[in-house]
Amino acid sequence: MADPKDTVYEADPHTRAKHKILQEYLKRWLPILARQSQNMGRGNTRLLYVDGFAGAGEYTDNIPGSPIVAIQTALSYASAFTVQTQIKLIEIREDRVANLRKLVEQMRPELARSGRIVVDDPIQGDCETVINQLIDDHEQRRQRLGPALFFLDQFGYSSFSMNLIGRILKQEVCEVFSYLNWNMLNPFMADTTKHVGISKAFGGDEWKDVLGLSGKAREDRFRDIYLAALRGRAGATYSYPFAMRDQNDRVIYWLFFCSNNIRGLEEMKEAMWKVDRSGGFEFSDKHATALGKLFQYGDGELANDLIAAHDGKEITVGSVGEYVLVQTPAYKFKEALAILERTGRLEIVDPPAKRRLGAFKDPELRIRFVQKVKVKDLTLFD
Ligand SMILES: C[S@@+](CC[C@H](N)C(=O)[O-])C[C@H]1O[C@@H](n2cnc3c(N)ncnc32)[C@H](O)[C@@H]1O
Repeated sequence: MADPKDTVYEADPHTRAKHKILQEYLKRWLPILARQSQNMGRGNTRLLYVDGFAGAGEYTDNIPGSPIVAIQTALSYASAFTVQTQIKLIEIREDRVANLRKLVEQMRPELARSGRIVVDDPIQGDCETVINQLIDDHEQRRQRLGPALFFLDQFGYSSFSMNLIGRILKQEVCEVFSYLNWNMLNPFMADTTKHVGISKAFGGDEWKDVLGLSGKAREDRFRDIYLAALRGRAGATYSYPFAMRDQNDRVIYWLFFCSNNIRGLEEMKEAMWKVDRSGGFEFSDKHATALGKLFQYGDGELANDLIAAHDGKEITVGSVGEYVLVQTPAYKFKEALAILERTGRLEIVDPPAKRRLGAFKDPELRIRFVQKVKVKDLTLFD
């Protein structure tokens, strides 16, 4: 959507889905990263959450905005960990900062009681400038910035650069959860005045490859070029796209999660699966259109995908787990392996003496996907 004139405006259903994902991720991220932060030892031991496009903190009818969702989630889970969580909120519009400040001030007594959640006074400014300054300060003081999560929830597609994502990801244990609005971008791509902004978002102009394409081919190619830039240019070890689709299954926007930690990706995928998919809007992913809706992607579908990708190959259970997280919509995979073992499509290499059928706990366990045995035109085990 375009930026409304009003300070506070109505939340659409996919905004609420986005908040639910954020909440589900923070619920998992805070305790895990709190433990990790304690083990990192050196420097200040605290978690940092930055909302770079914070908004007014609320929508009409008192629906909380992303900063309040994050603060409330941190407050709810504060007792589960001992390290401090620092929350920084950045917003460019003065009226929205003022509204946000008012809401944060109302929460101060509760924040003080928690003793662990520190919310800085909201910063009025441009997200990229403020975050670059923050990184500069930490680098000058030789202080660790992370563990940190940066939520970059812009309205359109050109308010921050690929450079910024790269700078954030270079910091130890820092992740980015960002937004790109395909609905706003796609119709205007022919307008050359928009090209500078799109190239800034990509850090290059290879996206222009899509100009001759249309429909789904254009959408898919655009997403894949952006993913390649996140990995190649910004240095994301793991980057995963989540598409919000409308009722006609057209992409409205993508959320991209970037992390250098496979565990972060696992937690984010679990958070995605928690989102209520009954409201007509649907989170899916790069496989969704080919395979149907995300909620139809069950253990059987994953088992088929694993066979298609690894037929005849030997691999560890840990590598299967990584493949599943990075290349498929799923995040759980042991039941799919159990199905394959039960149906004779998977063998255990050197099985431990007391191993039970269907047990895949050990990431070092080596398994072999059995090649399809074809009898004339009949395929066994389908
Ligand atoms: C999509 S809204 C954010 C909504 C909020 N994250 C939420 O979920 O409740 C984007 C916000 O970013 C602000 N904004 C636009 N450009 C910005 C910039 N360069 N830096 C920081 N904030 C910006 C807008 O005023 C708007 O309030």
